[in-house]
Formats: sequence, C-alpha cells, structure tokens
Amino acid sequence: MSVPNSPRTAALIPAAGSGTRLGRGPKAFVEVAGRSLLARSVAALSPFVDEVVVALPAGMDLPAGVPARAIVGGETRQGSVRRLLEATEAGTVLIHDAARPFVPPPVILALLGAIPATGAATVALPVADTLVRAEGQNWGELVPREGLWAVQTPQGFRRELLLQAHARAEAEQYAATDDAGLLARLGVPVRLVPGDARLFKVTTPGDLALAEALTGHVDGGWLTVEGEKK
Ligand code: CTP
Ligand code: MG
Repeated sequence: MSVPNSPRTAALIPAAGSGTRLGRGPKAFVEVAGRSLLARSVAALSPFVDEVVVALPAGMDLPAGVPARAIVGGETRQGSVRRLLEATEAGTVLIHDAARPFVPPPVILALLGAIPATGAATVALPVADTLVRAEGQNWGELVPREGLWAVQTPQGFRRELLLQAHARAEAEQYAATDDAGLLARLGVPVRLVPGDARLFKVTTPGDLALAEALTGHVDGGWLTVEGEKK
C-alpha cells in the first residue's frame, strides 16, 4: 500500500560532475542561452514526476527557482546516483544526466510506459553512422551497425531493483557510466525506448555550441520539426 503523500515517481538528476572536458567549471551550472543545463533538465522532467532530487558538487547550492531538492553527490556518477536512490522513497525513478538539457516530452512519456514490463528501461538511439574499430590510427575492422543502439538518458527503473544493482556493483567493484548497464549485467531485461538526437550529452565545447544553436527551437516549444507533436 502506498503511503499518502509519498512520491510515486521521482526524477533523480546527477549533476555533481566537474565538467573537466568542457573546461567551464561545474558543468550543470553552465548556461545555454541564459539558462543553466541543470535548470533546463529539471524543468524538462518535473511535469512528469512527483519530486525531483539533484546531486550537486559539495559546497554548491541549488540556483534560485529550480523546483528540486538537492543533496551532495559522490566522487563518481555511480556514487552520485547511489546517494540519489537513497534520498527518495519513490517506487519508480527516472535517472537523467543534468548534462542532457533537451528532453522531448514524448520520449519521457514513452519511457514511463516502458518501465512496468521488466522494471528497467532506457532511452537509446539506433546508431546511424558507419562503425569501425581502429587499428592504431588506421581503419581496422568494420563493425556492422545493425542492431546497435547508443545509450542515452533518461533511464527508468523500479527503485528497489536499481538499488540492489548498485549494491552488487559496489560489492564487486564494478564501475559503469550508466545505470541500465548495472541491471543488464545481472540478467534483468532492459527495454530500449527510441531516443532523440537532441538528447545528446553536452561534453565538449563543440557540444555547447550545438546546444546554443538548438535553444531557439527548443525554447520556442519544439515547434519546428515537421511531423512532431506540438
Ligand atoms: N556526475 C555526477 N557526479 C560525479 C560525476 C558526474 O553527478 N561525480 C554527473 C554529471 O554532473 C553529469 C552526468 O553525471 O550530469 C554525466 O557525467 P559527465 O558528462 O561525465 O559530466 P562531468 O563528469 O561533469 O564531465 P567530465 O567527465 O568532462 O569531467
Ligand atoms: Mg565525467
């Protein structure tokens, strides 16, 4: 039985990274067209969940006007997510990188719909480029791209399931860059939900330029892609 007023679904946002590759200080606080990556990610998810919890670098505060609760993150992304999982009582959690500021609403709805089947789902994008394994600086072996997906966030889970996977990973000193991978390695089927190129992670200065270029489209209400729901 659910406890009255306890959140059923929480968005958990790891935002405690240092942004080394971008080189502009803690990345979640970097602004794109006057609004931080963190504020953008929180605003994208908050309409779909009962609460939002973010993990911040030690000593940093939540900027004014961001509708979320803040905790201190860990030394790694995995550590930050572990703390976030322990900071909510929600039965279902959406984990989303603060560094992915553009989240199309239909993708969030599709993800929420995919979680109940196995308790684990992730947004991912079928690979469109030709893939090759390098041999030194040269073209080595061609990797057939059929059936290959690039994993993005948000990812959605039954919280208890993901907590168990984190505990196992920690006990076995297994490190991963995402959460669905922690469940997949335990044999839990993870549903793949088609993602979106606009969900790219702002990692390098070039990505920040891309994000700046996209804000007109996104801040205008995702209006300009033909065939996309308004
Ligand atoms: N993250 C976190 N806690 C950490 C490290 C990363 O919460 N100790 C978060 C980041 O804030 C980001 C997401 O995990 O939203 C993905 O990480 P990444 O893109 O690697 O961000 P940074 O670690 O900040 O960047 P870099 O690796 O270039 O330093
Ligand atoms: Mg990092």
